[in-house]
Amino acid sequence: MKALTICGTRGLFGSVRIPGAKNSVLPMLAASVLCHGTVTLTNVPCLSDVASSVRILQSIGCRITQHSGCISVTSPETPGNAVSEELMRTMRSSLFYLAPMLARTGRARIGTPGGCRLGARPIDMHLSGLARMGARAEENADGSLTLSAPDGLSGADITLRFPSVGTTETLLMAASTARGESVLRGVATEPEVTDLARFLQSAGADITGIGTRTLRVRGSDCLMGTRYAVCPDRITAATVLCAVAGCGGEVLLTNIRSAHMAEVLRALRGAGCMISASGEDSAALASDGTLRAAGERETGVYPAFPTDAAPLLAAALLRAEGESRVTDTIFENRFACAEGFAALGARVSVRGRTLEVRGVPRLAGAALRAPDLRGGAALVIAALQAEGESRIAEAQHISRGYEDIASLFASLGADIAWVNQ
Ligand code: EPU
Repeated sequence: MKALTICGTRGLFGSVRIPGAKNSVLPMLAASVLCHGTVTLTNVPCLSDVASSVRILQSIGCRITQHSGCISVTSPETPGNAVSEELMRTMRSSLFYLAPMLARTGRARIGTPGGCRLGARPIDMHLSGLARMGARAEENADGSLTLSAPDGLSGADITLRFPSVGTTETLLMAASTARGESVLRGVATEPEVTDLARFLQSAGADITGIGTRTLRVRGSDCLMGTRYAVCPDRITAATVLCAVAGCGGEVLLTNIRSAHMAEVLRALRGAGCMISASGEDSAALASDGTLRAAGERETGVYPAFPTDAAPLLAAALLRAEGESRVTDTIFENRFACAEGFAALGARVSVRGRTLEVRGVPRLAGAALRAPDLRGGAALVIAALQAEGESRIAEAQHISRGYEDIASLFASLGADIAWVNQ
């Protein structure tokens, strides 16, 4: 178990090169199992979820080589078709191995996926989509699930009841090597979904409609090895911007796609930050640390304001003048970090899916606990604005999605360090 200590109220100044996106690389690593030949991913972030993915890949017989920012995966002729309960529980993205194992071997056994406790997070849409493609599911005595498709998966016309990111990715992977054509309607268009589709295309998949709500996939006999650069992480970028907005300072972000971040940039501009984008791949933000409240803000599916950035924006607004209400329409329990905000002296309350923030002039350091990945990052942003020392326990949640959050903010001048819990 790891903890962070933070002494706040310093301005943050400098530049940050944003690493590759967690939510792109995780499904791509799983999709590598579909490919005959070696897949090499570049711009890979160094995250504990990536390490968990490597353990899963090795457990099903894949050969992995890794060196700075680069992972190569070579899948065996017949990969394993089960992920252990222990590995399943390391992250939600363990679920991404279901479709590739099923497609390659005709069978897949999985337990319950782990991940942040943001709400119920069922997997019914993944399962019903795969069922439409011919998979039969059976529950085992230990609660695990076995899916089988002895004659392989077949293309299908599937309409999602909600544009789920993970379901779209599962079905894209399944459809890429299924027999015949699939039409996936009402899909998610998040940049990470588009990135996975482009990765699959580079491996030989026949996909049209990328970036729209309808994807058409003509199944290929087999996908090949490929080399692909993972797109930049828009949520890491949002984390840095929200921290500088709240603390005050100036930062230049490089290796971003500003088009992926339009709503976050708009919200921070609205709060009083100066933002200038010099081209599509960099942006600068300056803040004097005195923000205006955001009024009402709601998350939604892309291109709306992202759910993952909701606690980050709320953290930036804890000392803003006036009242902000941030509502998350995606997950039921997005604001578990509110307890930590309150411990720092913030005036916050959670009503249903809405976090209400009434700005206070100052925050004071406190003992905190990271409830989940983005909630933990939000507490870092809040503690960076608090006078005196804060200690964030269970900060290992944060390492699932950030390379090294202490070094990241220390490089901008913050007083922050890892300590043993
Ligand atoms: N849902 C169902 N049934 C399903 C699947 C989803 O009811 O079978 C519901 C979920 O419970 C939720 C909503 O649909 O209420 C949206 O879930 P979605 O499937 O879109 O999310 P996800 O695939 O589980 C990914 C990201 C999350 C991000 C969401 C929304 C990955 C690995 N995770 O999750 O990222 O918040 O999309 O954009 O891609 C994070 O990075 O911290 C994180 C939680």
